[in-house]
Formats: sequence, C-alpha cells, structure tokens
Amino acid sequence: MDIDAEKVARLKKGDVPIYEPGLSPIVTKNFAAAQLDFTTDPVAAILHGELIFIAVGTPPGEDGSADLSYVLEVAGTIGRHLGDYAVVVNKSTVPVGTAGLVRAKIKEQLDLRGVEIAFDVASNPEFLKEGNAIEDCMRPDRIVVGSSSSRAIEILRKLYAPFNRNHERLVVMDECSAELTKYAANAMLATKISFMNEIANIAEKVGADVELVRQGIGSDPRIGFQFIYPGAGYGGSCFPKDVKALGRLAKSKGYNARLLSSVEEVNEDQKRKLFSYIEKHFSGDLNGKTIAVWGLAFKPDTDDMREASSRSLIDSLIAAGAKVRAFDPEAIPEAKRIYRGSSEQLHFADNAYEALQNADALAIVTEWKIFRSPNFKQLADLLKHRVVFDGRNIYDPKEVEAAGIAYFGVGRGRSLDGN
Ligand code: UDX
Repeated sequence: MDIDAEKVARLKKGDVPIYEPGLSPIVTKNFAAAQLDFTTDPVAAILHGELIFIAVGTPPGEDGSADLSYVLEVAGTIGRHLGDYAVVVNKSTVPVGTAGLVRAKIKEQLDLRGVEIAFDVASNPEFLKEGNAIEDCMRPDRIVVGSSSSRAIEILRKLYAPFNRNHERLVVMDECSAELTKYAANAMLATKISFMNEIANIAEKVGADVELVRQGIGSDPRIGFQFIYPGAGYGGSCFPKDVKALGRLAKSKGYNARLLSSVEEVNEDQKRKLFSYIEKHFSGDLNGKTIAVWGLAFKPDTDDMREASSRSLIDSLIAAGAKVRAFDPEAIPEAKRIYRGSSEQLHFADNAYEALQNADALAIVTEWKIFRSPNFKQLADLLKHRVVFDGRNIYDPKEVEAAGIAYFGVGRGRSLDGN
C-alpha cells in the first residue's frame, strides 16, 4: 500500500519505479501469479494480513534527528482500521524507542474506537544494499527480529523460515536492541570508510599509496577487505542520515558521541576532495574550464543520487564558474530532475566519451564497471589538459600516465594536497 497513486498504477503495470537489478522480473512474476498486489487503500492493506510492515521513509529533520511523522501516521491508520490480531513490524530505520511510540499510537486509536483488539509491535531492521537488494534479501547473513512478544516472534519465525534453512540466521532480541542494531551496523560501516579516508589523507601527506595500505591491512581477518575503500566519500539514503541520527539520539540522552561526529566530519571533507584537487590543479581558476564527470549515482548499480558525492562536486564546479559535462549509465533522469534539466553550465551527455568533448579534465565519482577500462589513448586525445581525477581509485596510475595523462587519485602519494 502506498499513498502515491501514480506509483501504485505503475507497479500494477509491472513498471518498477526505481532501478534495482533483478527486481522487475520478481515483481512481474508474483503480480501475474496473484501473489503480490498493490493498492492505495489502507483498509484493504490492513485487513489483508497477520503481519503489517511499516516501510516508509524516516528523513532527517532539521536538527538531523529522524523524522518519525510518516511512521506514526501509518501507525495511526493501522489503529483506525485494525480488525483482528496483527503483528506490526517496523522495517523503517527508526530511533531506539520507536516501537513503543508505534504501540502507543495504535492503542490510542483503538481506544478512540472503543475496541479492544490484541496486536504486537516488532522491530525487523533491513540490512540490504541498493544495487544488491535481491541477493541481500534472498540470502541474508542475519535476520534481526526484536519483540517482547513470543507470539510475534513465532509469526516472524514462520515468515522467515524459507530464508532460514541451512543454518540459524535469526537473531532474536528485544525491540530496543533491534533498533539500535541497525544504527550500529551502519555507523560501523561508515566509520570504516571514514577511517580509511583519514588514512588516505595521511598517505597523501607522507607520500604513501593508500591502495597498497588497504591491501596490507585488509588481509587481517579482524579488519577484512570490505568497506575500507577510500574515495570521494560515502553517500546514499542510509549512512549520512543514520550516523547523524545516532549522534542526535545519543545527545538527546546526554551522551556526546565524539567518534560519530568525526566520522561525519571526515566524510563531509572527503566529498569536497575532488573539487579541491581540481581547483588546485588549475591554480584556483576554474572560470570557463570544462570538467567531465563520470558517475552521478551515490554508488554503482543504482540511479539514487541522495547525498551523492557527485552533487557536491557539481555544485562547487558550477559555483566556481566551470562547465560540467556529466554522464552516468542510470542516474541521468534523476540528475535532470534534481538540476531541472540541462543548463549552460551543466550538460548531460549521452555516453561516457561524449562527456569528454571539449573537456579540460575528467573526474570519476562513481565506480561503474563501464568506467573501469577506458581507452586511455582516446582519453588523452579528447582531454584538453590531459588530467584525470579518480575519486574512486579505479585506475592504475602507471597505466594512465603511460598514455600521457596526469593522474590524481585519493591518497595515492601523488596528490596535490600532499608534498
Ligand atoms: C548501506 C548498508 O550497506 C546497508 O547494509 C544498509 O541496509 C543501507 O545502507 P547502501 O546505502 O545501499 O547500503 O550502500 P553501500 O554499498 O553500503 O555504500 C554506501 C556508500 O559508501 C556509497 O556511497 C559507497 O560509494 C561508499 N563506500 C562503500 C565507500 O566509500 N567505501 C567503501 O569501502 C564502501
């Protein structure tokens, strides 16, 4: 159920409104088999099942704390229409204590109706990654379910049984711990990235190559290779919002979460990194320069540009008087929506090489596969200033330089920020 009638109408036609590999065929197949339906009618949705998932957005409010108005609105609607026992499950990433607020909201509406209907509230946070959502959902490494009701836990256990065959993946806990688990997971991952970006910044100062350091530390299983890729900073709908919200939550309880503030601060700086390299390379004068930007999405395999590093780069380049020619395999419609179409200063190219026409330099912001092995000779011919700023360290500096192109990666010992 969604209040967006246009979205529901599109879904009913098998037209999935977001880009997520593998999602469309699943939706189409299950819709055709009448195992999946879409509606704008909350009553139909609420009366349909024993389990009701709340999966609405929790955008950051002005002070960075999670805005719960959509979650609580849904809870109120559930209370107004609930007909029989149901488990109301929070899928949305919500601050610790939200399960209690949802319970109170539903109860308030039931009381207003003067009816007594049993229900339980559970927290079941989602750990999927955009671009890999189907795989993460079908083969989860853990399923966290939090509820103080054993009846609710049993129903959720039954629901997840098909995903829980070979070994126990269910981690059962109270609502409050489940809510904190989600924030802790995202904050930990964001911390790994900011930590590595900090090492990259130190590497630049001392003339080391962070890519070698990454390989050197990742082989220690206590550290691991995942989420230690330095670059132009993390974006997306989760990390920036959740690190902020967890910090706010701690503060509201009288605890100053210093590490989280630093994680955020390092990331904000990192998002400005590519611009500062480009600005320094052109001695502070970007007026009239044309910069090609490869990658707009906050990461590959998605068209999502929320908190994307490309946005801060494009905004800074435009503010400095530069022209931008941008290409992304999926996110151009989204970029056109955000920037209200092309302008004199911002052109959206039809392909990667078209973005290079008349460009002085190339900046890589998203590590899409198609950007990984370009024809460097062709690149050298097209780029007026023959310089590449690699915000995701996807190239071998030697290979780029062999084609006569200057190369600047993040933390690779040859940065303009360093020696
Ligand atoms: C994240 C969590 O991974 C997922 O478990 C949670 O459910 C939602 O938030 P997502 O936002 O889809 O998923 O993307 P993710 O793959 O985690 O990447 C987030 C950002 O971090 C991207 O901008 C990516 O470029 C950046 N990143 C990731 C790095 O800069 N370095 C890394 O090593 C890994």
